[in-house]
Amino acid sequence: MAANSLPGATDKRLASLVTLFANNATIAISGARIAREIGVSRSTVWRWIERLREVGVRVKGRPHTGYFLESVPDILTPELLRQRLKGSLFGRRIYHFFKTDSTNRIGMELGYAGEPEGAVVLAEEQSAGRGRAGRAWHSERAAGIYVTLLLRPKISPVQALLLTMMAGLSAHAAIQAQTGLEADLKWPNDLMLNGKKLGGILTEMYADTSLVRFVIVGIGINVNQEKFLPELGGIATSLRLATGKQQSRLELLARLLREFETDYNRFLREGARFVTERFSKASSYAVGKRVRVANGSESFTGITAGLAPEGLLQVQIEGGKVVTVIAGDVTES
Ligand code: BTN
Repeated sequence: MAANSLPGATDKRLASLVTLFANNATIAISGARIAREIGVSRSTVWRWIERLREVGVRVKGRPHTGYFLESVPDILTPELLRQRLKGSLFGRRIYHFFKTDSTNRIGMELGYAGEPEGAVVLAEEQSAGRGRAGRAWHSERAAGIYVTLLLRPKISPVQALLLTMMAGLSAHAAIQAQTGLEADLKWPNDLMLNGKKLGGILTEMYADTSLVRFVIVGIGINVNQEKFLPELGGIATSLRLATGKQQSRLELLARLLREFETDYNRFLREGARFVTERFSKASSYAVGKRVRVANGSESFTGITAGLAPEGLLQVQIEGGKVVTVIAGDVTES
């Protein structure tokens, strides 16, 4: 399958339009010149400029006066991302959507279709973003990062949990490098800030009993949301809310993908301990936290007692017995 040829994916020429603007930041470019350079009609140029405006790209001007960008666009087009990911595993096959149902759904399809490792699926907006345990992931247009990575590691299915935890560590590092904020990691897949949810990871896979065929790692980060739906207001936060400043999603995403690649290579070389040791240091939930663990209708409380070798959370319950949590929602209690 040729990169970017998926139904609904952003037309390559539209991505070229963004690059053309970004490379000529303050110069007005006439509609006719744009049409000529990217090879579409002038009415298409006009339609696409409206589209860009909808996702917050500040294009000034009109067809006859020429168009120019008021500020560098924070749009995640493949070309702009690729420029920042030269030589990276994740700079080769990037699929961009202005709107799709779920980047994880597309990632799974690519996996089944034999797409090589390293494919990246990005959306400015998701209409059916998937969260853990069948929950929805609210994905406001052009406010967050909604990305899915396709991997083909030679690991066993139980080790996929480590990839989820590793992705959290990569996001943690990227956020710290860009904003100075230190997000907490809540086992196994939550990024937290000031006790509220800043992001989450949803890993899905296709595997035999002993070998993974492919894994997709879906990462959602709340970046520039200024408010949340009433039902999320008390439990979600964004980097914008925490820093008081607009953040570049493009730069954060590029950082995240570079961190992820380095971490992934080390995980494959060094194994589970690379992840569990770092996770234990970065997460306030790994040891000594009073938590409630809920799994379906069952729940219990206890004190966290570190991670088992494959990344499972250990919790000491009343009476001193230590139980290993395989799945479930962990909350501070
Ligand atoms: C969670 O914390 O429940 C996991 C949320 C994962 C959300 C991301 S956004 C990109 C990718 N596509 C999806 O449909 N979900 C993940």
